[in-house]
Order: sequence, then structure tokens, then C-alpha cells
Amino acid sequence: MALLPILRFPDPRLKKLAAPVIKIDNGIRRLAADMAETMYEAPGIGLAATQVDVHKRVVVVDISEEKNDLRVFINPELSNSAGCSIGEEGCLSVPGVYDKVERAERVTVRYLDLDGKPQVLEAEGLLAVCIQHEIDHLNGTVFVDHLSQLKQTRIRSKLAKQARVTA
Ligand code: NI
Repeated sequence: MALLPILRFPDPRLKKLAAPVIKIDNGIRRLAADMAETMYEAPGIGLAATQVDVHKRVVVVDISEEKNDLRVFINPELSNSAGCSIGEEGCLSVPGVYDKVERAERVTVRYLDLDGKPQVLEAEGLLAVCIQHEIDHLNGTVFVDHLSQLKQTRIRSKLAKQARVTA
């Protein structure tokens, strides 16, 4: 396994649309394992392949306290979104920035597991929010894109300063 470098907002590669996985082979299994290791190391509760500059529809999530409930979603698709929840979000690609985003409270997600079997998951609360956030990444959207233009400008300037300090 290997740690993968995480793209930082506003890297234009975060805007790429990820392609569906056609075949779940050892390359995809390796990618999912490396993404999980990268997420745990960061640490974070979710990571989309887009964030490690691989533009395939693969997401890893673990919202458990003990970090022992890894979920891998391949080609995830949302259906039956319901309700509304506004919560503070952050992102490994936007370090140090947290803001409120409106999401569906409950979602149904259809996806393939690592064996290529179709699965359906009913999710709510933090898991539902996390899945929506990660699917956004696969579609080239970062949570910052949901905020006002003024906030986006402030975030860009804050991250540019951070990049100068750490460069
Ligand atoms: Ni994110």
C-alpha cells in the first residue's frame, strides 16, 4: 500500500469529471486500498479518487470513531434524496477551512462493491452528507463551490497564503 498525494483546492484537476469504472481489477482494488490508507493517515472520513488525481468513480468512506468501518463505493449513484440538513463540512483538499453546506438528510446510494456486486445503501446523517460530498468530487465539485462568491474569494486568498508559507 502507498500514501497518495492529495490535490489542494483550487487545483484545476479537482474540476475533472471522473469516468465510470468498467472493470474492477487488481488496479482498482489497489487504488481503493491506497486511498483508504491515505484517508486514515490524513486523517479524514472520506476521500474521492479525484482528490488523488485519479479520475475514476471510486470513493472510500469511514465515519466510525474506531476507524474500523471502511466502505468502498465504486460508480456510486444517488437516488431518493430526501430532507434537508445543514452542517459544517471540511475537505482534505481544502485544509483548515470549514463551512456550512446544505445537503439532503437521507439518500439512497447504488454502487458496486470491490467484488463488482451491485449494492444499495440507505444512508442518513453524517454518512449521507459524506457520500454526497464525495460524489460531488467525482463530478468536479468541491464543497467550497456551494458557498457564496465572497466566501470563495476569502478561501482562495487564505489557501494562497498558506501555500506561500509552506512552499
Ligand atoms: Ni472533500
